[in-house]
Amino acid sequence: MATGKLLRQLIKTGVEGNTDAFRAASEEVIREERAKQHHLLANDLERLLYGRPRDFAHSPSRPMDKAPVDRERNLSLLDLREPVRRLDDAVLSDETRSAVEEVLQEHHHIERLASYGLRAADRLLFYGPPGCGKTLTAEVIASELGLPLAVVRVDAVVSSYLGETAANLRKVFDFAASNAAVVLFDEFDALAKERADEADHGELRRVVNAVLQMMDAYLGRSVLIAATNHETMLDLAVWRRFEEVLLFEPPNLEQLRRLLALKLRGVRREFEVEDETVTALFKGMTHADVERVLRRAIKDMVLAGKEFLTLGHIETAARRERPRQVRQRGK
Ligand SMILES: Nc1ncnc2c1ncn2[C@@H]1O[C@H](COP(=O)(O)OP(=O)(O)OP(=O)(O)O)[C@@H](O)[C@H]1O
Ligand SMILES: [Mg+2]
Repeated sequence: MATGKLLRQLIKTGVEGNTDAFRAASEEVIREERAKQHHLLANDLERLLYGRPRDFAHSPSRPMDKAPVDRERNLSLLDLREPVRRLDDAVLSDETRSAVEEVLQEHHHIERLASYGLRAADRLLFYGPPGCGKTLTAEVIASELGLPLAVVRVDAVVSSYLGETAANLRKVFDFAASNAAVVLFDEFDALAKERADEADHGELRRVVNAVLQMMDAYLGRSVLIAATNHETMLDLAVWRRFEEVLLFEPPNLEQLRRLLALKLRGVRREFEVEDETVTALFKGMTHADVERVLRRAIKDMVLAGKEFLTLGHIETAARRERPRQVRQRGK
C-alpha cells in the first residue's frame, strides 16, 4: 500500500478539489504500486484516473509525440489536425453509417472486448470516388472518439532514396502505435499498388511488402484508416488486412435530400429541398460537388443583397459546375 504521507496528500487534495495536485498524488501512488510489482492494482488505478486506456495518451503526463519527419528532406510525415465534425455532419448510406457506428461502439467498449481477448476494429479501408466523404468520415471517427486526426503525407513518405520510404513508414507506424490518434493514409493506393503491376520495380515491391508487414504486426493505440479512390489498383493481399471495408458513393435521392437539408440548415429559402425540380439540378453530383454548388449559390444571394435563396441562385451555380462534371465523366 501507498505510504501514509501519500495517502494524506491524496485525500487532502481530493477534498480541496485541487485537481492538478490530486492527479500528481495519484500518479505517485501508481508509480509506487508499480515499483512494488503490483501491476494489476496499478493498471486498475490508472484506469480510474485516466478513464479508457487510450485516454492515457492525452493525459498531461503523456503529451502527444511530435509528428515524425523524413530524414533526408526534413519533411513532416504526418499532418496533425484537431477534428471538428461529428457523425451527424456526414450523410452516409445506411450500410456505411452502421459500419461506422459499430466501429465506434467497439472503441467505446474497448475494455470489455479486451477482457475476452478481443480488440476493437482498428484497420479500416475506405474506398470510392472523390468527394463522397472518406476524409470527412475519418475526421468524424476521430472526433467521436475524442482523438486527434493524423493524416499521413504520402508525398513525404515516398522518397526517391532507396530504403528511405520503408524507414518513413516505420516511423509512421511507430507513431501510430505509441500515440492514440486516428491515422489516415490518404491516397493509400500510392503505397500499396498491385504487386504484379507491369510498371512495378523492386523498390515499389519492397514498399508494398513493408506496408503489409507493418499492418500485420500493428497492435497499437491508434485507429488506422486507409483511403483510396483507385481500389482496383490495390493488391488483394492488402484488402485482407482490413477488418472493415467501407464504400463511399455519390448520394442517392434520399441522401441528396438529407445533404441539402443539412447544408442549407439556417439558410432562408424559397423552395423545399424535397422538390424534384431542386434535386434534379444535382443529378450525378458527389457530396463535395453539391456542397460547392450550394456555397456558390449562397454567395450569389449574399452579394446580390437578397435574404432568401431561390431556385434561380441554385440553377446559376449548378450551371457553372457543368464543365467540371463533363471533365470528371470523361476521365
Ligand atoms: N458523405 C458526406 N456527407 C456530408 N458532406 C460530405 C460528404 N462527403 C463529402 N462531403 C463534403 O465534401 C468535402 C470533401 O469530401 P471528402 O474530403 O471527405 O472526400 P473524399 O471522399 O475524401 O475525397 P478524395 O477521394 O478526393 O480524398 C467534405 O469536407 C464535406 O464537406
Ligand atoms: Mg479524401
